[in-house]
Amino acid sequence: MTQRLLDKVALVTGGARGIGLATARAFAREGARVVIADVNEEGARKAAAELGGGALGVGVNVADPASVAAMIETIVEACGRIDVLFNNAGVGGNTPFLDLKLEDWNRIVGINLTGAFMVAQACAREMVKVGGGKIVNIASLSGQRGGNGRAAYGSAKAGLELLTKVMAVELAEHNINVNNIAPGAIETEMAKFAHDQATRAAYNYLIPMTRYGTPEEIADAAVFLCSDEARYVHGHTLNVDGGFREAGLMFKRAAPPAA
Ligand SMILES: NC(=O)c1ccc[n+]([C@@H]2O[C@H](COP(=O)([O-])OP(=O)(O)OC[C@H]3O[C@@H](n4cnc5c(N)ncnc54)[C@H](O)[C@@H]3O)[C@@H](O)[C@H]2O)c1
Repeated sequence: MTQRLLDKVALVTGGARGIGLATARAFAREGARVVIADVNEEGARKAAAELGGGALGVGVNVADPASVAAMIETIVEACGRIDVLFNNAGVGGNTPFLDLKLEDWNRIVGINLTGAFMVAQACAREMVKVGGGKIVNIASLSGQRGGNGRAAYGSAKAGLELLTKVMAVELAEHNINVNNIAPGAIETEMAKFAHDQATRAAYNYLIPMTRYGTPEEIADAAVFLCSDEARYVHGHTLNVDGGFREAGLMFKRAAPPAA
């Protein structure tokens, strides 16, 4: 068993299920003391109890500044420091541009971009105090390509990708490594909510590896970026997407799927 995150205090937001939960498990396997924070407080506590190893479950709404401040206070009180942030809490969105309501735009941007900013800033301030850390923000392919229904969600994720670059520039002097993971289509509850059958068929056609990814495949990339092995990887967006982003024409396929 490798212990690439031995004794690190690692915060995973949105860790009650999906990509966050898989990453919390991977961090624990690598020796970290994991804090699972989620708006689903019961789910966060349950997941932490299952992890064992001193893992902590905390309730937080990342879109609420007071809630973020309370979470940081709880973690620092219980664990003394924050070394790693997997900045993952997010909500999907799949509304056509012409129908998108301002309240939905604000909710999605508020969680996926403003929330990620508030958590990252609060954690970075703690990391400065202990001489460094690792931050991985969770962006998306939807922030890189214009997909149906992704006006709010894609804009928030594109903003997060740019924020990562600014953070990398400003936080380097504090020995804080900042990177992005941009997942493609990953098999989670969010994908079940946002992807109807036609969307699934289109993804499977457009992804060279012809399948959705698993949460564990994101977790493996996260462990690498949060480990010392990635110490000179900085301000980078690592796409974990089965080749979706880089694919051009794929001649082997006979025809596009019927919708
Ligand atoms: N699944 C995909 O295909 C995919 C693709 C690209 C990016 N992503 C991103 O990966 C991240 C995780 O997605 P997932 O598929 O595991 O989703 P998921 O819905 O399975 O899990 C998201 C978790 O975040 C929590 N959460 C939601 N709003 C919150 C808030 N305001 N405060 C705190 N916690 C909150 C939820 O309770 C849930 O436990 C998200 O940022 C998502 O945008 C997912």
